[in-house]
Amino acid sequence: MATWRAPGRVNLIGEHTDYNDGFTLPFAIAASCTATVRPGGDGLRAGSAQVDGEVAIPLTGLAEAPAVPDWARYVLGAAWLLRDRGVDVPPLEVTVDSDVPSGAGLSSSAAVVCSVVTALDDALGLGLAPDELLALSRAVENDVVGAPTGGMDQLASLRSREGHVLFCDMRDLAAEPVPFDLGGAGLALLVVDSRAPHAHADGEYAARRRGCEAAAAALGVPALRDVVIDDLDAALARLDGVGAEEQRRYTRHIVTEDARVLQTVELLRAGRVREIGPLLTQSHVSMRDDFRITVPEVDTAVEVLLAGGALGARMTGGGFGGCVIGLLEAEAVESAAAQVEEAFAEAGFTPPVAFTVTPGPGAHRVDG
Ligand code: GLA
Repeated sequence: MATWRAPGRVNLIGEHTDYNDGFTLPFAIAASCTATVRPGGDGLRAGSAQVDGEVAIPLTGLAEAPAVPDWARYVLGAAWLLRDRGVDVPPLEVTVDSDVPSGAGLSSSAAVVCSVVTALDDALGLGLAPDELLALSRAVENDVVGAPTGGMDQLASLRSREGHVLFCDMRDLAAEPVPFDLGGAGLALLVVDSRAPHAHADGEYAARRRGCEAAAAALGVPALRDVVIDDLDAALARLDGVGAEEQRRYTRHIVTEDARVLQTVELLRAGRVREIGPLLTQSHVSMRDDFRITVPEVDTAVEVLLAGGALGARMTGGGFGGCVIGLLEAEAVESAAAQVEEAFAEAGFTPPVAFTVTPGPGAHRVDG
């Protein structure tokens, strides 16, 4: 038996850059999922503290797997894929318990998948290398559940380090911890869950991904990461075919966002935490105006935070709802949260949920 805990994440900056082979800067949060794998019994069994009832099915690979509810696909997907890869998976039970809010853009699904994958690896003594753990976690999301996500969430959940953001190069999957000492700078990072419904989020996400790939193809580069910022204007001028207006907006977002991640990393390495604020805000404007993935609730939260003195604020995660982050003086947190609540009430939005976060550890074994 093995029990592992894997966290959700906040992405400090670098949105939708992951599937463009670009740069991201996420970190693990305290909200997490715990998975326990117990070999024994017969077949595969899945349980979740958040769902009534257990799923019990025969031991198969993915193609022969019977239909089960979505939550159980996240929980059992890794076992199916391992069977497909010729691993002698024994009968076992996987149970999960998560406090990462779902649909908030905090990677609740990566927390489930990464806790299960690390617990399975441990319980079955597979000895998977870090890259294999990442590939298996991504495959559950991409191939078992069918979500065309880009890999940042799983990388963050597996490899984050306490007190650090994780500088991810999504082309070679290098992940380097960079110190992020909010407290030392007298700052706090406030998360505001807008609780805006994730309407059409899956279809819109896939459409952005297709649009970025089309733009890269039109520019003759493997991915938008390959357009360097100094060549951006020339590249935009070359996009003049069908769908050019949209492709230009997507390209501008991705290329400037990659540049902002690199600038943020430089500032953090130099200990200039306060100075990253404007980059966060520019990222939000780019997501709102060019990539067009924000909704009124998150735009309102960002505006109110900035008006209330935040050094920077932006939506975090895939978009179309979800969470906003605000970089604030530590003593300004309570009043900022109250101002957002008030503005939401005035606008008739669902009341938001606000909390502060600090960078925590990635997936780790839980003893006992
Ligand atoms: C979701 C996806 C990630 C990434 C972000 C946007 O969280 O799972 O792969 O694309 O959106 O940055």
